[in-house]
Amino acid sequence: MKKIERISTLEREYVGRVLDGQFKSAKNYCMVTELEKRFAEKMGAKYAIAMVNGTVTLHCALEASGVGVGDEVICPPLTMSSTNICILHAGATPVFADIDPDTFNISPAAIEAKITPRTKAIIPVSLYGLPCDIDAIMAIAEKHGLTVIEDDAQCFLGTCRGRVTGSVAHMCSFSFQASKHMTSGEGGIVTTNDPDLALKLRRYSGLGYGSIGLEKGRITKEDIQSPTFERHVVMGWNYRPSDLCGAVALAQLERLDELVEMRILAANHFLDAVKGCSWLKPQAVPEGFVNSWWAFVMELDTDKVGWFDFRRKFMELGGDGVYGAWMLGYMEPMYRNRAFLGREKVVGGDYSKGICPVAERLQPRLLQFKTDYFDEADSVRQADILRQTIESFS
Ligand SMILES: Cc1ncc(COP(=O)(O)O)c(C=O)c1O
Repeated sequence: MKKIERISTLEREYVGRVLDGQFKSAKNYCMVTELEKRFAEKMGAKYAIAMVNGTVTLHCALEASGVGVGDEVICPPLTMSSTNICILHAGATPVFADIDPDTFNISPAAIEAKITPRTKAIIPVSLYGLPCDIDAIMAIAEKHGLTVIEDDAQCFLGTCRGRVTGSVAHMCSFSFQASKHMTSGEGGIVTTNDPDLALKLRRYSGLGYGSIGLEKGRITKEDIQSPTFERHVVMGWNYRPSDLCGAVALAQLERLDELVEMRILAANHFLDAVKGCSWLKPQAVPEGFVNSWWAFVMELDTDKVGWFDFRRKFMELGGDGVYGAWMLGYMEPMYRNRAFLGREKVVGGDYSKGICPVAERLQPRLLQFKTDYFDEADSVRQADILRQTIESFS
């Protein structure tokens, strides 16, 4: 049985080095700079720009794409809400495209059906750790001249036809929030192969400082001490992460293979437990895809067992918990009431019931199990409880 630590001595050592550096300007951002270099290498991308979380990364990527008021951005309805809220942050209109009933990921055909002359970008999500079909989505984007920002918050080292997520789309966004494969408590990063986009991401996430170039993540003493120094070449946000988070994320990156491996091991135990059960349908992994299993999710494909009854039994038998899927984005009160902090004046969009029928049918039937077990004995035990739960309803 494999056992690792979520936070090891390496994270502690790197944090110690940051604190020893006393945040002096010569040392500050050393960890973040190293993290960016190594993260890009690991994902097979040319550039990586770190930020404070995996929501602002998406917002900044939209701004770098030139998305703004009057534009439409296509996204899936079944995802954590940051995927669509970032579009509102940019003043643009979220357009929801339906999902595939087997993989639960956004359907390329549904994306194409939602394209209008106002569409500027697509944000597909690699949901629950399964890469979206990026080849099909990039082909559609190319045909219509759209930017693709892949939301890989939940997918680290997943692959689609041999290529790792983070290396193919125009920009790919990752989150280091506490539940993710690698974490620094909060944090995020964007990868890209395009130097123009990389420079925009850097500038827009750094208050628009003109002195910030692609390779230079901070302002020099000469710059900042001169009274004639013109700082801001463009409007920007302060989305820069702390070097403390950079230190933790760098250590986690060095350990990423083992962190991902633990999730895959857990998912394989769950898959084993449901094998042969005709009324539980785990997220399908198409040929040529590798799922990094941020979570293990199944459709409860029967009317004979209730969602809450299934959860109750699992918990009674000692299960850690079963999560329901997020409400679909457009079903949240924020959309129903168009409570967009004034942006309702510029945001269009159809958010009525029925726009994504596959997602609407699936959402109440999804059972989500955590996979972040760092002692394999724990995931074996949870899988065994799942097996007993299934038997109790058979
Ligand atoms: C699919 C998805 N997108 C975006 C985010 C936002 O990331 P963060 O919490 O780091 O802002 C998350 C997770 O939290 C997520 O799961």
